[in-house]
Amino acid sequence: MKSKSHLEDIVTAIRKQTAVEPKTAVILGSGLGHFTKQVTNSVVIPYADIPHYPHPTVEGHSGQFVIGTIGQEPVILASGRFHYYEGYDIETITLPQRLFHKLGIKNLIITNAAGSVRKDFQPGDLMAIKGHLDFTFRESSNLPAVVKGEPFHSEQLLKLARTAASRENINLKVGIYTWTLGPAFETPAEIEMIRELGGDAVGMSTVPEIRTAGKLGINALGISCLTNYAAGITTATLTHQEVMETASRVSETFSRLIRGIIITIGKGDHYDH
Ligand code: HPA
Repeated sequence: MKSKSHLEDIVTAIRKQTAVEPKTAVILGSGLGHFTKQVTNSVVIPYADIPHYPHPTVEGHSGQFVIGTIGQEPVILASGRFHYYEGYDIETITLPQRLFHKLGIKNLIITNAAGSVRKDFQPGDLMAIKGHLDFTFRESSNLPAVVKGEPFHSEQLLKLARTAASRENINLKVGIYTWTLGPAFETPAEIEMIRELGGDAVGMSTVPEIRTAGKLGINALGISCLTNYAAGITTATLTHQEVMETASRVSETFSRLIRGIIITIGKGDHYDH
């Protein structure tokens, strides 16, 4: 996906399928695709039906957009994302953000499955992302520093997430998400270093998406489903299956949280678009 006209073709293909003009977008991470059931009057557009659009290759990522409404808010959900470790370049990974920008999206909720780097954030907990670390060493071999707050992490959306969580009786953690290249899980030594640098969770996505959204002026909020303790936090061996199982166990709570955030955005009483 190199040219501007490709992006226009993609927008045209989506607009042809629905008159809904979504204002809020959600990217659903590993095993969280069931959230699409929350959408009313939904139109499903498989990525495969969209010209120039890439296809995800990872289990748990189905590869479709679902457009419709949640409460009063017009939404677009992306079920299935692209990871750097699948061999895509950064431009392809961040295509959804550029597409959302063209579609007029104001708010973006980015979800993911992540490992917990601290004992008191347990598997099954949900964590709102208030800042990030880039631990990929793609741009520099220096140790990364935490990047917090605006323009990458919307303070207004974070506040809404806290409100929605307390209304729904969900114990929402708030912390720093660390991007690692993957696809292998990290080593215990890497996790120790990530902890020292201020990371609370670790995963293989989200940071390029957050950066692009911030640069385009989209309000972004990341929510991690902590699916496992990161390597070395306990002696257990990590598997993608554990990630999928925990994501599925937490899916109902996760849905309530994301739905609660979107409903509050839709009411617009605590929020200006
Ligand atoms: N590390 C990296 N990515 C992950 C993990 C992890 O422990 N769990 C889920 N995604």
